[in-house]
Amino acid sequence: MRLCLCLWVLAFCILASDLGALADVRSLISKELFEQILKHRNDAACQAKGFCTYEAFVNAANSFGAFATTGDTKTRKREIAAFLAQTSHETTGGWATAPDGPYAWGYCFKQERGNPPDYCVANQQWPCAPGKKYYGRGPIQISYNYNYGPAGKAINYDLLKDPDAVANNATISFKTAFWFWMTPQSPKPSCHAVITGQWKPSTIDIQAGRVPGYGVTTNIINGGIECGKGSNAQMENRIGFYKRYCQILGVDPGRNLDCRNQRPFNA
Ligand SMILES: *[C@@H]1O[C@H](CO)[C@@H](O)[C@H](O)[C@H]1NC(C)=O
Repeated sequence: MRLCLCLWVLAFCILASDLGALADVRSLISKELFEQILKHRNDAACQAKGFCTYEAFVNAANSFGAFATTGDTKTRKREIAAFLAQTSHETTGGWATAPDGPYAWGYCFKQERGNPPDYCVANQQWPCAPGKKYYGRGPIQISYNYNYGPAGKAINYDLLKDPDAVANNATISFKTAFWFWMTPQSPKPSCHAVITGQWKPSTIDIQAGRVPGYGVTTNIINGGIECGKGSNAQMENRIGFYKRYCQILGVDPGRNLDCRNQRPFNA
């Protein structure tokens, strides 16, 4: 009887630790691969030098349970590659002839350069705090009070009061990007739903050329500027990052990488 109970406990423990390991983003992207992917982010020329760490990435990712834990291994790897690629485009310090190529320079910047305006618009639900600015910060370059507000609420940190935290605390910074990635903003699906194949295009989507694949994540992020206009440098840059990261993670990037022939969601 005792032995039997013991074995059950043991079996349960093994199962639980196994599930724990599987559900952790670290099982798919090691620190070594993370460093290879974001290779030049700590170069002297990078404004964000020393800011983003693997640990902050892992902590923030694990606080959004469904990230990189949905679907099979191929799907999970693609989601990691797509997330890091889109955010690398937003923060890139790369140029055409850069060492190791333009796609080894993601996460070089952590906030808008120059002297950006306050990005404050009248909003009853998410009012600006006096003297605070809501310009682009962090991996997704979150901007405007009406985005800082709900992002802060979701991650349980008052970003309206302290928007600078997105550029000063790497965990908070990553969390704002995961919030954007995981949260649908009507009429758009979430990037997470698209890249994991959970999103199924409606008849309207299909008529608008929006078919499952990485291209729709670009459409969600900046479709009004980059989609439905044939080839353009910004869209191609996003694809370049994605292909390189897929290669490092050892996964095929899948189909429909561009949004050349897609109408934006709001059009
Ligand atoms: C970053 O923010 C998190 C969440 O609010 C907090 O737990 C952590 O201590 C902060 N880290 C630093 C270095 O301030």
